Amino acid sequence: MNRISRDAIDNILSRRSIRRFDPSVRVDDASLKTILECACAAPSANNYRPWHFIAVDSRETLDSMADLHPYGKMLKTAALAIVVCSETEREGRVLRYWEEDCSAAMQNILLSANALGFGSVWLGARHGDNDLEGKLKSLLNVPAGIALMGIAAIGRALETKDPHKGIDPHSLHYGKW
Ligand SMILES: Cc1cc2nc3c(=O)[nH]c(=O)nc-3n(C[C@H](O)[C@H](O)[C@H](O)COP(=O)(O)O)c2cc1C
Repeated sequence: MNRISRDAIDNILSRRSIRRFDPSVRVDDASLKTILECACAAPSANNYRPWHFIAVDSRETLDSMADLHPYGKMLKTAALAIVVCSETEREGRVLRYWEEDCSAAMQNILLSANALGFGSVWLGARHGDNDLEGKLKSLLNVPAGIALMGIAAIGRALETKDPHKGIDPHSLHYGKW
């Protein structure tokens, strides 16, 4: 395997969910631009690209998001959140693959953050109790008709985790199930 391919594989394997951040280190503008460029490079069914991204670096807004999200307390120390939203219809047509498209964009966000030396974690938002998605949408002025798929919390990691390795044996089937 050539060196560039090995780096790409190592980046995938070393991405872990990071939940402890140094709040004094911001994500610089060049890194944010690269992360968003990678998000927009995700595959998209019919190339509809239904995603919208809200980059949040206001401490006050990050704290409010943390207060709303029962499993998102790390937003209190994250330097940045990228909120992945989506059109679910366009010109009367249902965009039936928007969740897949946005998940691919989210993964590209996490992987590019890792490659740039930042930690990150994906926070679900769509299936939370007590209308979590609605509350987050209201906080962030997300229009009606737009879904809020999830949040990437990003910052300088204050924890390290071992890279992934191996194949889940129970997940593997050859030829047929
Ligand atoms: C759809 C989705 C929702 C998630 N929501 C949360 C969350 O709300 N809070 C959290 O701390 N981690 C969340 N995670 C991260 C998972 O807990 C994490 O990916 C899993 O434990 C595997 O660890 P790893 O990412 O380090 O490989 C979520 C992951 C996915 C894919």
